[in-house]
Amino acid sequence: MSDRWWRDAVLYQVYPRSFADSNGDGVGDLAGVTERLEYLEWLGVDAVWLNPVHPSPNVDWGYDVSDYTGIHPDLGTLEDLDRLVSEANARGIRVLLDLVPNHTSAQHPWFRQRPDFYVWADDVPNNWESIFGGGSAWEYDDERGQYYLHNFAVEQPDLNWWNPEVAPEFERILRFWFDRGVAGFRIDVAHAIYKDRELRDDPVIPGLGMRRRYSMFRPETHKILQRWRTLAETYDPPRLLLGEAYSLDVEQWAGYFGEHGDELDLAFAFMLTHADLDAAQMRTVVAEIEAALPADAWPCWMGSNHDIGRLATRWANGDDARVRCALMMLLTLRGTPCLYYGDELGLTAGDVPASRILDVAEPSRDPGRTPMPWSAEGDWHDPWLPLADTSRNVEDQRADSDSTLQFTRDLIALRRRIGDLHGGAYVELDAPDGAWAWRRGGRAVVALNLGDDEVELVDIHGAIALTTSRSHEGEVVSGRLLLPPSSGVIVETV
Ligand code: GLC
Repeated sequence: MSDRWWRDAVLYQVYPRSFADSNGDGVGDLAGVTERLEYLEWLGVDAVWLNPVHPSPNVDWGYDVSDYTGIHPDLGTLEDLDRLVSEANARGIRVLLDLVPNHTSAQHPWFRQRPDFYVWADDVPNNWESIFGGGSAWEYDDERGQYYLHNFAVEQPDLNWWNPEVAPEFERILRFWFDRGVAGFRIDVAHAIYKDRELRDDPVIPGLGMRRRYSMFRPETHKILQRWRTLAETYDPPRLLLGEAYSLDVEQWAGYFGEHGDELDLAFAFMLTHADLDAAQMRTVVAEIEAALPADAWPCWMGSNHDIGRLATRWANGDDARVRCALMMLLTLRGTPCLYYGDELGLTAGDVPASRILDVAEPSRDPGRTPMPWSAEGDWHDPWLPLADTSRNVEDQRADSDSTLQFTRDLIALRRRIGDLHGGAYVELDAPDGAWAWRRGGRAVVALNLGDDEVELVDIHGAIALTTSRSHEGEVVSGRLLLPPSSGVIVETV
């Protein structure tokens, strides 16, 4: 196993409540994930990131943690987690957990026993706004007679990282899981850990609204990431720090890799998810990211997650041809791809009627969190979120060699076979309007036509290794490459 194993890896995000239910109570669980490891190994993914699995009142479905070293009883036990880690490892799959350092649940014992771990003020001190609800980020607490800060829901008080006793608590939490064989963490709101010590007002920019300059994105946060990186590197193999550093400012985002490459190992590239599936928009974003990244930094590409919803809907409007273009892109850009459960099926947003909405956010993120359809029957009994449409499901697509699932599996296998597809430099190639093409190292060219007209690319030589339409694979290209609308090709170059 190479040191920085994540650079060659394909990551897979599991939303535990919605992935697989082992005991038929309608809520997915850890034993369910273990039962489906065979599927994940067959698909070819290298690591699984689990959204928070800890005890939580579930105001924000696990992102309001009340015990960082426990397991939520809905999801199982610590033994179930240990079993998942060891059975996954036996199949060559690593397990990542989700670390939530910005805030806890108000039900966390710290909130009453260690109020000094939180941010308090006698009066509302500034204009900071809560992300959930949009009102003031300060809430009056009767018991203390003071206001506390909550950048997210009222039930999610922000931690005060200026208190020097907070950092050692989190180092203890990191070690607890690393010692159990957890391969790393996805770090929730990795850009927000510290808040301005003076609690200055966030600036309001006319026409653009509020900029979270003081409530988030403080320079001191970098020191914490550096400390965690040092800690992660005391393990063998080093543990992975994958950050949700949610900045759309490419320079600011690139800063989370550390000036000396000593902070995050991977950071999600949210800029791409804010672009349409459009060649001009996306190649511009990728060029900006490539230009801004420190030489040794590695981005993490995704098109879906539990917050932003499903790429098959947002980027492709349910069109499987365009879903495959998006998957081909995510798996062949320079960086580490992270699939969200169901992406491999082309799963679209679920239908969640207003009466079934459980999310605290507005608009609801529930359509992107509906249960994984394992078969046409679904394989769920009265699930916590509705599973209305099972037309795209694992069993049927596994049996169909033309399916998006088989395409994704072949794409992952090809990425493994052609080392340049994961390790080679990204060089954009000339392409007509509507198309986007790039070379990866010396061994591969990827070409996507995201427009409405057929396009022709020139000067490409090699053998067609994979196409989104599954036609022409194995054919030789000597110069000209014709691409119909909504199609993509990977050429193994000579
Ligand atoms: C992150 C999570 C999101 C959660 C929020 C607050 O953005 O991805 O699901 O609601 O943090 O913890």
